[in-house]
Amino acid sequence: MSKNLIVYYSRKGANYVGGNIRSLPKGNTEVCAELIQKSVGGDLFEVETVKPYSEDYNTCTEEAKAEKAADARPALKAYLDDVAAYDNIFVCGPCWWGTYPYPVFSLLEKLDFTGKRVWGLMTHEGSGLGSSRRDLVRFCPGAAVGEGIAILGSEVLRAPESVENKIKAWLAGLEL
Ligand SMILES: Cc1cc2nc3c(=O)[nH]c(=O)nc-3n(C[C@H](O)[C@H](O)[C@H](O)COP(=O)(O)O)c2cc1C
Repeated sequence: MSKNLIVYYSRKGANYVGGNIRSLPKGNTEVCAELIQKSVGGDLFEVETVKPYSEDYNTCTEEAKAEKAADARPALKAYLDDVAAYDNIFVCGPCWWGTYPYPVFSLLEKLDFTGKRVWGLMTHEGSGLGSSRRDLVRFCPGAAVGEGIAILGSEVLRAPESVENKIKAWLAGLEL
């Protein structure tokens, strides 16, 4: 039986929900990552930065913009030693300025993805998958990067069943 790893970054706290800033106990992407686990099983790994981003939404967007401009690799609280035990790897994250938050790349670039199957899940507020697939190809050399899924972040709270059904349908088509 193939083994799944679900890597995710997700920001708790102030978030944009249907045009308003609300405080959420769990980030949108975390909910989606858990839905992958619920549907197909696997180990979850949360990417957490040593230095937290601002609680304030707008300040956080500026911090993220600066990291992208600097092509930064923010330090993480923990890294994975390797992904040797896994066949399938899901990389889940919010869209930040068109791609994953840069801490996701801090993790990916330390790992050897040769021979692995990789898929992206991105939550967003309009940008869809952005450049995430291209970035997965770049940061996971040697992996077969499949068709990812974009989930509208505000739907996670508003229409949880629809989000779960979309994720299940996507997974069903992957032939894990
Ligand atoms: C720093 C930052 C940058 C963002 N940039 C984008 C963007 O470029 N395009 C987009 O559609 N949404 C953008 N968003 C919205 C998030 O992608 C969206 O709210 C997502 O569901 C948040 O996921 P999370 O709760 O798991 O962190 C941004 C949010 C933040 C905090």
